[in-house]
Amino acid sequence: MANKIINFGSLNIDHVYTVAEFVRPGETIACKEYKQFCGGKGLNQSIALARAGAPVSHAGKIGTDGLWLKELLDKDGTDTTQLQVIDAPTGHAIIQVDSKGENCIVLYGGANRSITPADVSAALENFSEGDILLTQNEVTSVPEMFREADKRGMTIVFNPAPMTDEVREYPLELVDYLVLNEVEGAALVDTDAPRDIMRALKERYPRAQVILTIGGDGALFYQDKEIVHVPTEKVKVVDTTAAGDTFMGYFLASLVAGASLRDAVQSGCKAGAKCVTKPGAADSIPYKSEVR
Ligand code: RIB
Repeated sequence: MANKIINFGSLNIDHVYTVAEFVRPGETIACKEYKQFCGGKGLNQSIALARAGAPVSHAGKIGTDGLWLKELLDKDGTDTTQLQVIDAPTGHAIIQVDSKGENCIVLYGGANRSITPADVSAALENFSEGDILLTQNEVTSVPEMFREADKRGMTIVFNPAPMTDEVREYPLELVDYLVLNEVEGAALVDTDAPRDIMRALKERYPRAQVILTIGGDGALFYQDKEIVHVPTEKVKVVDTTAAGDTFMGYFLASLVAGASLRDAVQSGCKAGAKCVTKPGAADSIPYKSEVR
């Protein structure tokens, strides 16, 4: 793989509430703690790429209330020249984290939902054959990104998170690396067992290398038509937020550095396991020196 990466993705202010159990319908509960963190699947994946040592340019949109998100990207060495500050509120997420470290998230798209096809053409102008487009499903104009990147001969890496009905309508046949978790996979192909999800995705999108993350059990990928399982280390889970984003950043950074698919998946699993031992989204993403 070549090594110029553009991540066209979301940036969110994460409002994180630590609770004993998730609030139920009709219930009012008090949280144990409240904190704000930098987040958004796009930002998290750029931070993970940068901390893993890969150069990345982050394209997206925030409002002036989100300038501190840009500061974090800058501090970690990502290129933010394609990040626009517009007259709209920055996207945000309301996140509950329970005593098991599991989360549930409500999103407000804000500025993330104002990416236009013209923004896509402008951002990809200086990218060409062999360069990499990474995106997730928290921004608008994803189909236009795929088409523009494909026209330019770029490698397309897609994380369909969060999964929505529209994803089925995206030109996923153009995707080169489809990286998703089992919940997203199940929703996309209407089957539950991880290996069945793998087979169904491979059949439907033959161009894509499919990588399925399966939480604390690691990840699955295809090698020579065989499904390979990469287990992950067992750790004490504090907060699973951004584990998938960390996996993606480390996975892609390893591929770009010339690792085999297996080693790249392994690197993603190791970094993801490290991420869940700390609270927060971007803040919990480990540096390369912490991932052995
Ligand atoms: O993947 C975790 C992220 O999902 C959070 O940072 C939140 O902003 C949502 O986008």
